[in-house]
Amino acid sequence: MFSLDRFIADCRAAVAEDPSHKAVREVVARAVSAPAQVLRALGEPKRGEVQSLYRSNGLTILNVIWAPWTTIMPHDHRMWAVIGIYTGREDNIFWRRLPAAEGGRIEAAGAKALSERHAAPLGRDIIHSVTNPIPRLTGAIHVYGGDFFDTARSQWDPETLVEGPYDMAKTMRVFAEANAFQTKS
Ligand SMILES: [Fe+2]
Repeated sequence: MFSLDRFIADCRAAVAEDPSHKAVREVVARAVSAPAQVLRALGEPKRGEVQSLYRSNGLTILNVIWAPWTTIMPHDHRMWAVIGIYTGREDNIFWRRLPAAEGGRIEAAGAKALSERHAAPLGRDIIHSVTNPIPRLTGAIHVYGGDFFDTARSQWDPETLVEGPYDMAKTMRVFAEANAFQTKS
């Protein structure tokens, strides 16, 4: 059975043993290999939101619920991450910096479609944007190798693809607006 306390303890032990993403990826992969158990433990997703499940200097664990068709602008993390999907889908676009471009502009470099049971590692310098491409809520466990809420990083304007400082409030507004849109339609 999946237990949240056990999962957090396993992630902490994994990072203590190996500060890279590798051991944590195995913990996340094991968890989402039984997605119904994760769903039961975390609760049926009700609305788009970011729930902080655990936070320390070296480790952050989030339960990220994506409302249908939510897209979050390109951003980096400056720490490794592991994304495990327990219900729904996440489409990731990966971006790279254009050499010598003004404003730190980026171009699309690749993509990865994540589905239930996938546990994908992201390197510390990855720039990605994320979309929930399906008409229902997606639930994902995101684990980061640092304090996700207290690390300076970048986001890119989704229209101009120009770099700016990461703005957590703006990200939270995207989640809130996606919920408002769902309620209206
Ligand atoms: Fe991200």
